[in-house]
Amino acid sequence: MNQATFIILGATGDLSKRKLIPAIYKLIKHKKIDRFALIGASIKKTDIKTILENSKKFISNSEEKIWKKLENYSYFFELDFYKSEKYQEFKKFIKEIEKRHKLKGNKIFYLATLPEHFKEITKNLYENKIVTKYDHKNNCKDCNHPWSRIVYEKPFGHDLKSAKEINKCIRKLFHEKQIYRIDHYLGKELVSNIALVRFTNRIFEPLWNNKHIDSIQIILSEKIGIEGRGKFYDKYGAIKDVVQNHMLQILSLIAMEQPKKLEAKYIRDVKAKILKKLIFKNAILGQYKGYTEEKNVNPKSKTETFAALKLEINNKRWKGVPFYLKTGKNLDKKETSVHIKFKMVKCLLTQGCPSDSNYLTIKITPSNGFYLELNSKEPQTNNLIPVEMNFCHSCLFGPNTPEAYENLLFDVIKGDQSTFVRSDEIEYSWKLIDSIKKNKYKIYKYEKGSKGPKEINLLDNKIIRWRA
Ligand code: BG6
Repeated sequence: MNQATFIILGATGDLSKRKLIPAIYKLIKHKKIDRFALIGASIKKTDIKTILENSKKFISNSEEKIWKKLENYSYFFELDFYKSEKYQEFKKFIKEIEKRHKLKGNKIFYLATLPEHFKEITKNLYENKIVTKYDHKNNCKDCNHPWSRIVYEKPFGHDLKSAKEINKCIRKLFHEKQIYRIDHYLGKELVSNIALVRFTNRIFEPLWNNKHIDSIQIILSEKIGIEGRGKFYDKYGAIKDVVQNHMLQILSLIAMEQPKKLEAKYIRDVKAKILKKLIFKNAILGQYKGYTEEKNVNPKSKTETFAALKLEINNKRWKGVPFYLKTGKNLDKKETSVHIKFKMVKCLLTQGCPSDSNYLTIKITPSNGFYLELNSKEPQTNNLIPVEMNFCHSCLFGPNTPEAYENLLFDVIKGDQSTFVRSDEIEYSWKLIDSIKKNKYKIYKYEKGSKGPKEINLLDNKIIRWRA
């Protein structure tokens, strides 16, 4: 029987409203959790009714019966994260709720706050014995019942130094088995499918290397702008906001060696090895016109809202294969996709040789699926055209794939860490980001709704045909 108390620290924030509360609602609806309570904690003076009401509009077709259940099991606690003495009261409050709902004590603490608060909150949870460290030496079996797991939202720090400090602090107080560093892209259906597709189909492995692959594009293009998040975004920018985490995680799944088993420890081992070997080659950065007039943005800001990067992996499999990453706000479309371009074959035709090679495209969002582009003959001519062998996820499984946060919270309940990021992965990613950020790049302006700055062509000395 799955049971847990969800404790959201930073419950009045955007993430809680848009993603976490809807995900808990879905866990109840899909009967993935049998008994639960929800405690929202925040420094703001508010109440749980307001928090839930603000979140309701992010749940499509909410059912009254389930909503009522969520309301009846939800509470609010006003907590100043920096006032140690308040945590004793908080502890009592949690216990009381658990008793009231006959819960056995499994707890998920979700730190939906900025990373600068992680250390302080973690210390207070530990010092006030709200969360205790697993004792793996003595009673590893029992230490799982009841369990306390802590989820850290991204970004995990703002550079290598800060990430190391947070890791050091939390590792000292808790066991790695209790720590869940979230990257919601790892909860997306097609991202979690990458390893399965690669390693359960014979056809990919022999081709998955620099002999046969020409280049790889990873694209995270967004139509939306910064949506009132000026204070956060202006400090971080596109590279720290989505490259350090979502895009590098996708890259590591695409490039990793075959793990011994498709299990957390082994997957994280091989991913970390890739992140360690990443080399930064070049960057083109941009900023959409009007960005500096956004609320809470420095009028002279040089923060990038667009980044195109060229990376390479310094290992035998990938030596010489460029990984092109492109992301931006206020672009022409919303799309996250990966495009694996295979090398051209020697053309045996006397005329009409194909102008491009094969692609394997993985569509992550908004549509889900993958397709393989092959060259094929057009009927009644000898012309070659690209045709697609297409797997459309929603056509096969219907449109209601669970959202990333629902999957990830369910993984936390199950204790499955394979979709969460280990401390070494985080640190290698930040190391790469630091090596990018130490350079001073020109920031090119681009129109809202465009494909980004036209100077993107300067990224490499060969022409890149961007696929999105
Ligand atoms: C978040 C970033 O992590 O990911 C946002 O902070 C970005 O800036 C979002 O918009 C993109 O996620 P998704 O799931 O909408 O593609």
